[in-house]
This record gives sequence, structure tokens and C-alpha cells, in this order.
Amino acid sequence: MDDSFQMLPVQLKNTSLFDGRGFFGGKWRHAASNKTFPVFEPSSGQVLAHCGDFSKEDFVQAIEQADHGFRQYFHHTTAKQRGSLLRRWNYLILENLNDIANILSLENGKTLVEAKGEVAYAASFVSWFAEEAVRSYGDVIPSSYPNTTALTFKEPVGVCGIITPWNFPAAMITRKIAPAIAAGCSVVIKPPSETPFTAIALVRLALEAGFPPDVVHVVPTKDRTASLELATHPKVKKISFTGSTNVGKMLTKLAAGTMKRVSMELGGNAPFVVFEDADIDKAVEGALICKFRCSGQTCVCANRLYVHANVIEEFTERLIRRVDCFRFGRGIDEGVTHGPLVNAAAVEKVKVHVKDAIQKGGQLRYGGGVPADRASGYFYQPTIITNANNNMLLASDETFGPLAAIFTFSSEEQVIKMANDTEFGLAGYFFSENINRVLRIAKRLECGMIGVNTGLISAAETPFGGVKESGIGREGSKYGLSEYQNVKAVSIGGL
Ligand code: SIN
Repeated sequence: MDDSFQMLPVQLKNTSLFDGRGFFGGKWRHAASNKTFPVFEPSSGQVLAHCGDFSKEDFVQAIEQADHGFRQYFHHTTAKQRGSLLRRWNYLILENLNDIANILSLENGKTLVEAKGEVAYAASFVSWFAEEAVRSYGDVIPSSYPNTTALTFKEPVGVCGIITPWNFPAAMITRKIAPAIAAGCSVVIKPPSETPFTAIALVRLALEAGFPPDVVHVVPTKDRTASLELATHPKVKKISFTGSTNVGKMLTKLAAGTMKRVSMELGGNAPFVVFEDADIDKAVEGALICKFRCSGQTCVCANRLYVHANVIEEFTERLIRRVDCFRFGRGIDEGVTHGPLVNAAAVEKVKVHVKDAIQKGGQLRYGGGVPADRASGYFYQPTIITNANNNMLLASDETFGPLAAIFTFSSEEQVIKMANDTEFGLAGYFFSENINRVLRIAKRLECGMIGVNTGLISAAETPFGGVKESGIGREGSKYGLSEYQNVKAVSIGGL
């Protein structure tokens, strides 16, 4: 390990959690080639530490071992045993919440408050699936054949390849691994190269909780072709990915080669609609949460704000007043409300969207540049543009940054048409105090998840996932476990 591991800018209680090694073959290891890649602190653009850069051969070894662990015994453990493992993991995550949040905040940039919230959110999936593990039932089916009984068993799918994003370095790991373990699967994790250290810390705690060493593996890499082994190796039976739609499509195509199960949580382009009968305070509150959480870098972020012509000025002015109170800075520093974007490319994308919107008639009402006191690091001001229209890049492409683009509308029909005019269908939000309208619009918006009078829709108990090109499958909730199970039908004759 390099010296950067001794020079963290925060003091961890449990220093062993900050590690840049991979875990497979039953031990923590450096890449055989000794290759590493730098991980940057987005608030300064400086290297935080180096992480092991593992190869295709390493992935193959981890997969073979995961297959061995699964077949030899993990498959045959009881749901109660697996629930206990998850409960211990949950306990350890919560016990180490501050340390994990510090690591997460440093490598991702989000504020410590948000990072702590994320770690608690991550733990909530572990405790949820600890309980779900023992509540997974098969069926007894009245057979149409005489003297026959038909049954179904729920069986674990086998080795799962887990590929997670940098925007939720903790929660996306647990949202996938907890149900996989609850079902009796083994996992090989490829964490994001921007934020590998949180994933590694979580795996350290999973092992401390008693997860068998050939059931959980973490293999960091910067080499895309190495991690593609998770989509092509015949012993991997399922791949779960959160990230862009383009990469999701590519992985799905590769996975089809061996007919793997897939869960794909992909891009969004969420509409956020404020009707004339909305409570404007609630709508502004909702916009602050679902537009600016994680500095606008969530797939459920509001990307297109449609505000009725009668309330657009009131909404915009109140939103500006609230955004003006944001304080930018290094996520771990006191008083900071918003952190940087993840890297220079993310800042560049927001710049391009803002420039394009202004050229196409958008009116810049707030922000629109890099904060004057933040020349280093990857910062961009929260930005509000009105007069947005469909020709702008931001209308069809998720900005993934702190840009609130406000469109105006004058009728329900018109706004439904605009909101659904996208190939994406992850999240959608709307604000109205009219119950008939609430039910009507909730049915007509083409999204997997809808927030009505709230900007906060994510929780362990609520199914997370999209329709259209936003993906396949559901995570969390009572549906999340079945993504890691096969249903086996057994017909018993001669009874
Ligand atoms: C994501 O943006 O990928 C996840 C957001 C969430 O879980 O709320």
C-alpha cells in the first residue's frame, strides 16, 4: 500500500477500513502486476490515494472461487443463517458509519451530512433483506393432473456480477449485495474506479460480520475489458448494473451470450411538474431535494422542471432564494451544504448544457459558472434557467449536475405529452393539491417511480427501477429478492 493511506485528511477510528486492495482467493491482495490507479478527491482535484488495478485473470479467479463457494455450501445455508449474517453486517456498518461516511465524502465529494445519510440508507437495505431472507415462500399449486401436486421452490441464481456507480458508493453496493446474499448467491463486485474505497470498506465489514471468504469478492479495476468478464464468463449467472443506459445496453448484449439474468438500473430524464394548484412551498422543497441532492448527480434527479405559467415566477423566485443559501466546499468541512461534481468531465457537461440552453433562448436566472472561490476542484454553481425548450440538449440528455431547467406549460394534456416525450422512464415528480389530478397524472406518467408532492422517493421498502430505456428489474422492497432467485417448478405424481 502506498503512503497516501497513512495521510488521510481525516482521522478514522477504524483505520483498517481505508484500503486499496482487492479481496479474492481468500485474501486481501495487491494486483499481481502491482498496477494501481489514482483516485482523486473531487473537491481539490488532487490524488487521494491509489487503488489496486486488477486484471482479467483476477476476475476469472474471483468468479471461479465465487462459483465454488456457492456450489459447495452457500447455496445450502438456511435463510435464517443468511439473515443473521446480514444483521451482523448491518450492525457493523452502523457502528462504523462515521468512518465510512468520511471515506465516501472524500472520494465522492458529497457533504458529510449527505454521506452519513447515504451510509444509513445503505444499511437500511441490509437490514431490510435480513428480514426478507426468511420471508421468501414457494407455492403449492392445485395440479390439473390427477394424483399430482405441483410446487415451486425459490432458488438462488448463483454467482452474481455486481457493477456499481460512483454517485452512491455505499448504497448501490448494499442494494445489490444484500438481496443476493439473502437469496443464497455469491458475488463478485467491480466497484467504480472513481470511488472504490467505500466499497472496499464495506467488504471488509462484511467479512468481519462472517461472510464466507469465497462468497464475497471485490475486484477494483480501471480496465474495462477486465470487468467485462462479469458479463461474459459462463459461471456468472446474473449481472446487476447501475449506470448509464449505453453501458447497460452493452452489458445486456454481452450477458445474452450466456443468457444471464440482468438487472439494469439505468439513466433517467425525470420530469418535475408543478401544477397551478400546487403548494409552492412543497414544490420548492421537493425541487431542492430531487434536483440538488448529491449536487444533481443522481439518476432520479429532476432534469426537466415544468411549471404552470400562472405560478412560474413565484416558484422560480422562491427557488432562487433557497439556492442562494447553498455553501460550496469540501464535503468534509463544517457548514458546507453542497460538494463538487465528481470530475472535470462532469463539470464540462454542465457547462455545455448551460451554454447551449442560453444560445437557444434560455434565460439565465441564477449561477451559470464555476464559483469564484473554487478554482480548484470540480465545482459548478447551482444554476437556474427559465424559458427552457425542447431543442436544448438538456431536454433530451440527463445533465447530471446542478442545473435546474424550467419549462413553462399551460394545460395538463400539454405537460403530460412533454413529460413523456423521452426514451427514459425512471423517476417523475409532480405537485398538485387536487386528488383527482393526483390519481390521473400518477397513472399517465411513464415512469417506474413517481413522487407526488415530495422530492424524496428512495427507500429500502419501495421498489426502485425504471421503464422504457431506464432499465430492467426492481431493487429494494419485497420485489428485490426475486431478482436473485430462480423459480423451480416441481410436479409430484402418483400421490
Ligand atoms: C442513483 O442515482 O443511482 C440512486 C438514487 C437513489 O437511490 O436514490
